[in-house]
Amino acid sequence: MATYKLLLLPGDGIGPEVMAGVQTVLAALAETGLAHFETEADLVGGSAIDAHGKPLSNATLAKADAADAILLGAVGGPKWNGVAYEIRPEAGLLRLRKDLGLFANLRPAICYPALADASALKRELVEGLDIMIVRELTGGVYFGEPKEITTLPDGSKRAVDTQVYTTAEIERIAHVAFDLAGKRSGRVASAEKHNVMKSGVLWKEVVTAVHARHYAGIELEHVLADNCAMQLVRRPKQFDVLVTDNLFGDVLSDVAAMLTGSLGMLPSASLGAVDARGTRKALYEPVHGSAPDIAGQDKANPIAMIGSLAMCLRYSFGLGEAADLVDGAITAALAGGARTADIAGDGSKVLGTRAMAETIAAELRTRAA
Ligand code: NAD
Ligand code: IPM
Ligand code: MN
Repeated sequence: MATYKLLLLPGDGIGPEVMAGVQTVLAALAETGLAHFETEADLVGGSAIDAHGKPLSNATLAKADAADAILLGAVGGPKWNGVAYEIRPEAGLLRLRKDLGLFANLRPAICYPALADASALKRELVEGLDIMIVRELTGGVYFGEPKEITTLPDGSKRAVDTQVYTTAEIERIAHVAFDLAGKRSGRVASAEKHNVMKSGVLWKEVVTAVHARHYAGIELEHVLADNCAMQLVRRPKQFDVLVTDNLFGDVLSDVAAMLTGSLGMLPSASLGAVDARGTRKALYEPVHGSAPDIAGQDKANPIAMIGSLAMCLRYSFGLGEAADLVDGAITAALAGGARTADIAGDGSKVLGTRAMAETIAAELRTRAA
């Protein structure tokens, strides 16, 4: 059996708690004989600031660069509110994404059958929901220059963030979206604001051109990002693959999370370009943050993190059977009534983070036997 090298970066807040859930599932997976992982853990975000004075050390970045894949929990929290902007916890995550070239962030929003009543929306709107948000992750307003706050002559201030996209950046994310759609329902919606943003004009133009040149069999629809947010709540099942920029993708994926029941349900894969050897850099991270309000209380839902492990098995290692086993164990645990507080209905028994991960691991063992 091949052994894969995984770098675990638990981070801050609930990050280490949900990452412990991954280790519980990895142990069960090793017993099945389907996959064995060598894991190494390191610091990122606030925990790295506490240890080294910066959120991502060069040594950690080098390890991330050498790993077969990276799993990241979450970064940030009120403890680091006072640190300089350049070294805040989130800057460590942004540097990882940028320096490793992880431009394609896949955020699947799936409503598990057992959770159709856990969403803030009515059952009929979300039952069977399966959307793939493709968020551009290394460009746009997150990284555009200038990015600064200057002081004006009258002593007041002026803050600038810059949204920049090039043809090449839009082309490569469009290809990811169309290729995925080809393996799904064959429909892509592209969200931007060409009505007010030059970058939106270019986005729409390039996505249209990539579609016309290479993807005749795929249906493409353009939607303004504000309308898209509204449509996600009004009639979410109209979407299959939804491609959008870095900032709109951040916001729209939190909206989509609530269709599935909780932010604690949404995994993600942050992928780089495929190289000459057919491999790509990859980091797998839940969509949620460090949840300071529930950190350290064994309350966090570990499913987004464990689902991110399933994506890692599938996308980085081609271990479809092992990935199906993990996804199947999550589905079975939920079907059996396992609920963390965020997805619990009236009267359901609430499990802590550890118990939920153990339930999923137990389902995995049963299903593998
Ligand atoms: P958040 O995602 O941490 O939390 C928002 C709400 O969702 C909270 O009420 C939280 O309790 C709940 N929640 C989140 N994950 C959950 C889970 N797994 N189980 C149950 N409930 C869950 O967002 P926030 O509060 O706006 O941000 C807190 C910190 O996290 C900030 O510093 C932010 O920058 C950071 N953040 C980091 C990441 C990341 O590392 N990828 C992502 C988002 C936010
Ligand atoms: C996410 C987070 C990050 C983002 C932050 C923590 C930098 O909100 O991954 O969704 O804005 O991309
Ligand atoms: Mn976010």
